[in-house]
Amino acid sequence: LIVLVGFMGAGKSTAAREIAADRGTRALDADELLAARVGMPIPAFFAEHGEEEFRRREEELIVELLRGGDGVLALGGGAVESPRVREALRGHRVVLLDIDADAAWSRCRSSDRPLARDRAAFSALHARRRPLYDEVAGVVVPALRGAAAKALRVVPEGARAVWAQTAGGQYPVIVGEGVIEADVGAPGRPYVVVDDNVKEQPWVPVAKATIVVPPGEQHKTLATAERLLSALAQMDATRGDHVFAVGGGVVGDLAGFCAATYQRGIAVVQAPTTLLAMVDASIGGKTGVDLPEGKNYVGAYHQPHAVLADTQTLQSLPAAEHAAGYAEVLKTALIAGGWLWERISAGARVDEEVIFGCARAKVAVVAADERDGGRRQVLNLGHTVAHAIETVTGYTRLRHGEAVALGLLAALRLSGQDGLRAHVLQLLADEGLPTTLEGLDVDAVVAATRRDKKRTGEEVPFVLVAAPGDVRHGRTVSRADLRAAVEELRR
Ligand SMILES: NC(=O)c1ccc[n+]([C@@H]2O[C@H](COP(=O)([O-])OP(=O)(O)OC[C@H]3O[C@@H](n4cnc5c(N)ncnc54)[C@H](O)[C@@H]3O)[C@@H](O)[C@H]2O)c1
Repeated sequence: LIVLVGFMGAGKSTAAREIAADRGTRALDADELLAARVGMPIPAFFAEHGEEEFRRREEELIVELLRGGDGVLALGGGAVESPRVREALRGHRVVLLDIDADAAWSRCRSSDRPLARDRAAFSALHARRRPLYDEVAGVVVPALRGAAAKALRVVPEGARAVWAQTAGGQYPVIVGEGVIEADVGAPGRPYVVVDDNVKEQPWVPVAKATIVVPPGEQHKTLATAERLLSALAQMDATRGDHVFAVGGGVVGDLAGFCAATYQRGIAVVQAPTTLLAMVDASIGGKTGVDLPEGKNYVGAYHQPHAVLADTQTLQSLPAAEHAAGYAEVLKTALIAGGWLWERISAGARVDEEVIFGCARAKVAVVAADERDGGRRQVLNLGHTVAHAIETVTGYTRLRHGEAVALGLLAALRLSGQDGLRAHVLQLLADEGLPTTLEGLDVDAVVAATRRDKKRTGEEVPFVLVAAPGDVRHGRTVSRADLRAAVEELRR
C-alpha cells in the first residue's frame, strides 16, 4: 500500500485520490471507512464515545487495512500515535504531507474538527506528532496540491526522498540504492562531471559528454573551473542542457559552480558519492571554489534540479573518506537532536536511514534560510575552526571532514560542554578520526578564524551547542577562550 500521513489539513484524502488516479488503483480514506463502520460521522462519534474509543476503533481498522490489499490509503492525522499502527506501517510506502502548524491552523480553524478548536492545543499536538510522522515516513513532500502524486512519479520504488523548498526553487533529495539512474526530468542532455578516482566506477552514468577533473580539494580552484567551463563550451552545452555532477563535495561544488555560471546558469543534478556529500555538500545550493587566501571564497548559490544520493556508490568509498563523512553526520546529529542524535550518540553505524535523517535535517535548515542570513549558520557548527585549520595547513594535510572533527571539539569546548565533548571525542576516535593534530600552528589558526567568511563586522560569529538539538549561531567568544580551545587540539 501507499499510505499518506500528516497533520490535519495537509490534504491527505485529496492526495490519495490523485495518486490512485495516477496509478489506476483505488483510494481509501481511513476516516471515511471508520465513519461507515461506526455508522456516524467522526465528530459525532468523538462527542458521543470520546477520543480514547475513537483511537481504539481507528487502530483496529488501520491495522486490518494494512494487512493486505492494494491502493492508496489516507490515514487520519492522529493514527501514527498508535505504536501498533506505526509497526504495521513498516514495509509500506509511507508518504508524509509536511505542513507547519501555522499553515495547518489556517486551513482547519473553521472546520468541524474536534481537535482544531484551541490554537495552543493545536500547536502542541502538532509538535507532539511531528517526530512520529518523521519516524514512519519514507517520502516527505510539502503539503501542496499535486505534490505527492508528482513526487511518486519520480521517486523510485524503495527509495526515500524529501523535497527541499527554498526561495531559489524546489527539488527532491532522493536516497537509496540505484537512485543515480532515477529519471528526474532534468532538461536537455547530461554533461557528466567526474574526477579521476570515480570515472571507472560501474555506476557512473554513460553519457555522450563526460568531463573528467583531477581529484582533491587542491583542484577545487578557478583554474579547474575554467577548464571545465571551456570543456562545456567545446562540447556544445547549451542553456537547455544540464550538468550531472557525480562525486564527492569537491566535484559537486566545482561542477555546481560551473553550472551556476556557464551562460549565466544551467541546471545541475547532484549525484553525491561520498558520505559527506550525501549528508551535507550536495544539499542547499552552495557551490564554489577555493582561493589561496581562503576556502570557498568564490561561489554562487545555485539550487540543484535534484539530488540523487545513491547509497550503492558508498561501497567503493575508502574507509578514511567514510570517516570524514562521519564527522558531518555527527555535526548534523548534534544540530538536529531527536532520534538522530540518540542513534548516533549510541554509536550506531551509518545506514540509509541515518543518511536520510541527515539529509532531512539539512533540508529543514536550508528551507528556513537559503542564504545564510540566520538559521542556516547553525550548519557551520565546528566549521569556523575547521576552515581555519584547513587554510593554515594549505588544504592538503587533512580531509575536510577530519578538520571538522577537530573543529567540533573546539566548538564543544567553547560551548562549555565538557561532558558532551568527551563523548563526541570518543565517537570520533572510534571512527578513526583525528582528535588532535601534531604541530598545529595555534596562532595561525586563531588568526585565520578572523578571515572567516561569516565575519561581517569585528567579531567572528561562532556556533555553540546548548544541548543536542539546541544549537545557536551568532555567538561571540573571547580570543583567550578560542586560543585555549585550539591549543587543546595540538598534540
Ligand atoms: N556546498 C556545500 O554546502 C558543502 C558542504 C560541506 C562540504 N562541502 C565541500 O565538500 C568538499 C569535501 O567533499 P568530500 O569529502 O566528498 O571530498 P572529495 O570530493 O574530495 O571526495 C573524497 C575522495 O573520495 C573520492 N571518491 C568520491 N566518491 C567515491 C566513491 N564512491 N568511491 C571511491 N572514491 C570516491 C574522490 O575522488 C576523492 O578522492 C569540500 O570541498 C567542502 O568544502 C561543501
